[in-house]
Amino acid sequence: MTIKKVMVIGAGQMGGGIAQVCAEAGFDVYLNDIKEESYAKGLAVITKNLTRNVEKGRMTETEKQDVLGRITKSLQLEDAKDVDMVIEAAVENMTIKQSIFKQLDEFAPVHTILASNTSSLSITEIAAATKRPEKVIGMHFMNPVPVMKLVEIIRGLGTADEVYTAVEAMTEKLSKVPVEVNDFPGFVANRVLMPMINEAVYTLYEGVATKEAIDEVMKLGMNQPMGPLQLADFIGLDTCLYIMETLHEGFGDSKYRPCPLLRKYVKAGRLGKKTGRGFYEYS
Ligand code: CAA
Repeated sequence: MTIKKVMVIGAGQMGGGIAQVCAEAGFDVYLNDIKEESYAKGLAVITKNLTRNVEKGRMTETEKQDVLGRITKSLQLEDAKDVDMVIEAAVENMTIKQSIFKQLDEFAPVHTILASNTSSLSITEIAAATKRPEKVIGMHFMNPVPVMKLVEIIRGLGTADEVYTAVEAMTEKLSKVPVEVNDFPGFVANRVLMPMINEAVYTLYEGVATKEAIDEVMKLGMNQPMGPLQLADFIGLDTCLYIMETLHEGFGDSKYRPCPLLRKYVKAGRLGKKTGRGFYEYS
């Protein structure tokens, strides 16, 4: 399986980052979004990141232009007709993901691998919307994508070995480290990370300490680069809540119940950095 042309679906924080690292690694990339403005915003972030690389002497201006030249705008899923691989990074919603995969299954050639960057939803269930479950796989990148080395590679129930191998090789080409994981709610990353974040929200909710104190304990005591409440703001509190709900529902275990304070913030529209306010305020 030779992967040359990739389509990334969703030009947001994750999709934009994935498109950037793919283009930097020499792949031709279609960056797809339903909205022209979202595409433009995504491309602007990529351009800013590449410009910083040039300023820091990590890349020449010519290389930057080459990378940008490998990214093509796409506003329709039909463009999947000539790609070898699709990486979907749309919203975390099973109905939407299944609808996208069903359409991709129609438009993409038979050899095309369909990957999802879902952070906790079942790859097996997404694959069930297609007639090619053996070519469906999870490729979970971490935020910020250009910086974080890990890609969790998730095997769905029907994922073929040669598809796993091709995706593992591609991940290495992106200068990332693939780690193999099976398909269970939250995989490994969010099964471990989110209960920690949720517990940090509980310690705030119960008045054990201030938000600053909780983050300071985890930063200075456990060498975490940022505290769990600040990290939750960066991930998005709606995403954190959604993942906790997926764990809670998927395992039916009350230890995964989302903290009421997390729910309250999401209801108030305090979603973190992206809305200017979560546990902290951002200008
Ligand atoms: N895009 C590209 N590059 C970025 C960036 C971004 N959004 N943010 C920071 N960087 C780069 C900076 O340019 C800098 O590079 P150089 O040192 O080479 O110049 C480097 O990252 C370090 O940045 P800073 O010095 O400004 O800041 P920092 O030391 O605080 O590091 C960080 C930033 C790497 C993001 C660090 O804070 C960190 O590791 N945070 C935790 C990240 C994390 O846990 N991510 C996983 C989230 S969970 C997830 O993604 C999965 C999910 O499903 C929810």
